[in-house]
Amino acid sequence: MNRRRRIYEGKAKILYEGPEPGTLVQHFKDDATAFNKKKHAIVDGKGVLNNRISEYVFERLNEIGVPTHFIRRLNMREQLIREVEIIPLEVVVRNIAAGSLSKRLGIDEGTPLPRSIIEFYYKNDELDDPLVAEEHITAFGWAGPQEIDDIMSLALRINDFLSGLFLGIGIRLVDFKMEFGRQYENDMVRIILADEISPDSCRLWDIETSDRMDKDRFRRDMGGLIEAYTEVARRLGIMIGQEQERPGGPVLVKH
Ligand code: TMP
Ligand code: ASP
Repeated sequence: MNRRRRIYEGKAKILYEGPEPGTLVQHFKDDATAFNKKKHAIVDGKGVLNNRISEYVFERLNEIGVPTHFIRRLNMREQLIREVEIIPLEVVVRNIAAGSLSKRLGIDEGTPLPRSIIEFYYKNDELDDPLVAEEHITAFGWAGPQEIDDIMSLALRINDFLSGLFLGIGIRLVDFKMEFGRQYENDMVRIILADEISPDSCRLWDIETSDRMDKDRFRRDMGGLIEAYTEVARRLGIMIGQEQERPGGPVLVKH
């Protein structure tokens, strides 16, 4: 069982060698971290919820033709993914001011933005993932101009689709973070969505109450993280326990 080769261990996930060349197993841990690991806790059951929620989101994206690394879920904590060369950028799309944008520019949290804004952060723990411009990305060779264009059009498409998906279940997609990778196939390279999309990497606010249904509950010591993630899963129509099985898909929230 533990013979698998560990390829990489991050803050919330582990990557193992996959069963076939070009595949990996992505394992979701229960670790919750914030502020580059300055804050850390084990939250029982978080990995299971994120595995399911991210599976659901990536499957829907695959269905509309967004290329992703997701192949299939293997068990409660693991999914089979395509191996990619990760582009060292955290790509954030924002629809409503919150978090670091509010702080940096002095815009009240909750202020709708004039249009969706894409930001790039350089993935580097020692530097605390600094905000960077396209100029830095191309000058330092982290990605080429065409790759940046591909990433931006995928990011906006994903944002439009997920904003609608969450709106249908009474949740506002305030902002979220994505990572992309290069997939090499024969002599072709393409950019595909990698990593995860879950309440760890999104800001999700209840439309009616503005309740936080994401990792800000941990970052800001609000408590109730598992309850919030479970509610996101429930509204998406994902069954976690057998008794909650609901094969009918998302639950439309009327208001
Ligand atoms: P921020 O407002 O702190 O910059 O976060 C923007 C979005 O990115 C928010 O949905 C949380 C997500 N995020 C991550 O997934 N990982 C990170 O390391 C950070 C800083 C933010
Ligand atoms: N994931 C980052 C960390 O572990 C930060 C965050 O999500 O707030 O520190």
